[in-house]
Amino acid sequence: MTTKPKLLLVEDDQSLGALLALELRRSGYDVEFVKTGEDALQRLSATLYDAVLTDLRLGGMDGIQVLQEAKRAQPETEVLVLTGHGSIDTAVQAMKHGAFDYMTKPVQPEELMMSLQKALEHRRLLGEVRRLREEVKGKYSFEGIVYSSPEMSRVLELVRKVASTDATVLIQGESGTGKELIARALHENSVRRSGTFVAVNCGALPEGLLESELFGHVKGSFTGADRNKRGLFEEASGGTLLLDEISETTPNLQVKLLRALQESEVRRVGDNHPIKVATRVVAATNKDLAALVKAGKFREDLYYRLKVFPIDLPSLRERRSDILPLAEHFLRKARKKMAAKAARLSTEAAAALHAYDWPGNVRELEHAVERALIMASSPTVELADLPPEVQAAAPAPTSKKGHPPLDELEKRHILEVVKASGGNQAVAAKRLGIGRNTLWRKLKKYGAA
Ligand SMILES: Nc1ncnc2c1ncn2[C@@H]1O[C@H](COP(=O)(O)OP(=O)(O)OP(=O)(O)O)[C@@H](O)[C@H]1O
Ligand SMILES: [Mg+2]
Repeated sequence: MTTKPKLLLVEDDQSLGALLALELRRSGYDVEFVKTGEDALQRLSATLYDAVLTDLRLGGMDGIQVLQEAKRAQPETEVLVLTGHGSIDTAVQAMKHGAFDYMTKPVQPEELMMSLQKALEHRRLLGEVRRLREEVKGKYSFEGIVYSSPEMSRVLELVRKVASTDATVLIQGESGTGKELIARALHENSVRRSGTFVAVNCGALPEGLLESELFGHVKGSFTGADRNKRGLFEEASGGTLLLDEISETTPNLQVKLLRALQESEVRRVGDNHPIKVATRVVAATNKDLAALVKAGKFREDLYYRLKVFPIDLPSLRERRSDILPLAEHFLRKARKKMAAKAARLSTEAAAALHAYDWPGNVRELEHAVERALIMASSPTVELADLPPEVQAAAPAPTSKKGHPPLDELEKRHILEVVKASGGNQAVAAKRLGIGRNTLWRKLKKYGAA
C-alpha cells in the first residue's frame, strides 16, 4: 500500500483518544479523531476509511450505532471496537453486527496495532478473493438477456469491458430496446454488485422533487421536509445509479449533476455541507442527446461528462435475428404466467413477427406475444392471433402461378399513372412506355377498363 491507511478513531475520553491517535500516527496511520457518535457519522458520510476504531460507550449515540452506520455506508471498511472492562456482552453484540475485533480497555498498543494490521489484511484479502472469484468464473452472466444477433453480442462485449471500471456510461437507444436491462447487467457484472442499484426516471418528477430525490434534503428546507433525508446518490453509494430519461432534466439540475459527477460529492437541499459519495452513474436516453446539445437544450459539458463511455443499443429492426429468439422467450415466460396452453408459433406468425418493424422494440414484441397467447385458441399461435399491425407486415403468400406480388405491384403502378393522367389512356400509355393496346388489355384484365 503506498498511501497511508485511513483510520477514524471515535473515543469520548479526550486524553485516551489523543494518546491513541498519537500512537497510531507514529505507526503510519492517517488518523482522524472524533469524540462523539454524531461526529463519527458526519465523517463517515464525508470520507472513505480503511478502518474505524470506536469506543462502545460514548456520550449520546453509542458505538454500536457507529458500527452499524459504518457498515452500511462503507461495507468494506473494517470496524474494531474498544470496550470498558465488564462489557463483554456488548462486545459480543458488536461482533454480531460485523465488527472485525474487540479489545478491552486498557488497550495495549501492541495488541491494537496487531489487530489493526489483521483487519487491514482481511480487507485486502476480501478484495483479492472477490477479484479471483470473478476471474475463475471467467465469464460474465447476462441472465435474462436474450439475443443471437452480432449487434447485441457487440453491445454485451462493451458491457463486459466497462463493467469492471467506474466510468460513467451513457446508454442510448429507442424506447423499449432494453436500456434499463443493460444498465442492470452493467451493475450485476461489476464489483459493485453487492451495492445497491437505484433507477430514477428523470422525466417523471418536477425539478424540485427530483433534486431532493437525487441529493436528499435537510429538515425544514421546504414545506413538508419534516426530517433529514438521504438522496439516491447516497443510497447508491458503492452501487450504481441509473439516471433514466436524462434528457428531461432542467438546466439548473444539469449543473448540479455535473458538479456531483466531477466532485463525487453531493449537497442535500438546504445544506451546504458536501457529502462524499462513491456512486457509479449510468445515464440512459431515447433522445438524440448530441442534437439536444446543438439545439441548446442540454448542457454540452454534462453531455461530454456522461458520454465517457457510450453504449448504443440498436433498434430491434436493426437486429432482426433477435426477434424470434425473443418471441420464443416471451412465449415461454407468458405461458408460465398465464398457465396458457399455446406453445409454439405457426410459420406464418413467425414470418410476420420477423417482418414487422417494431417501433416499440422489445417491449412491443413482449406485449404482442402476451396478447397473442390470450387470443390463441389452439396450441399454436396463428397469424390471426397477432395484433393487426403485425399481421399486416406478413409477407404476401406466394401463389402457385408465379409472382402475384409483382403483378400486384404492376397493377398498382399502372392504375396510379392512369389516375395521374386524368384518366387519359393515351397520355398514361406514353408515360408508362407501353402501347395503347397493351395498356387497354391490362386494364381490362384488372377489371378497370
Ligand atoms: N435482450 C432482451 N432479452 C430479454 N428481455 C429484454 C431484452 N431487451 C429488452 N427486454 C425486455 O423488454 C422490456 C423493455 O426493456 P427496458 O425497460 O430495459 O427498455 P428501455 O430501453 O429502458 O425502454 P424505455 O426507453 O421505454 O424506458 C423489459 O421488459 C425488458 O426486460
Ligand atoms: Mg427504460
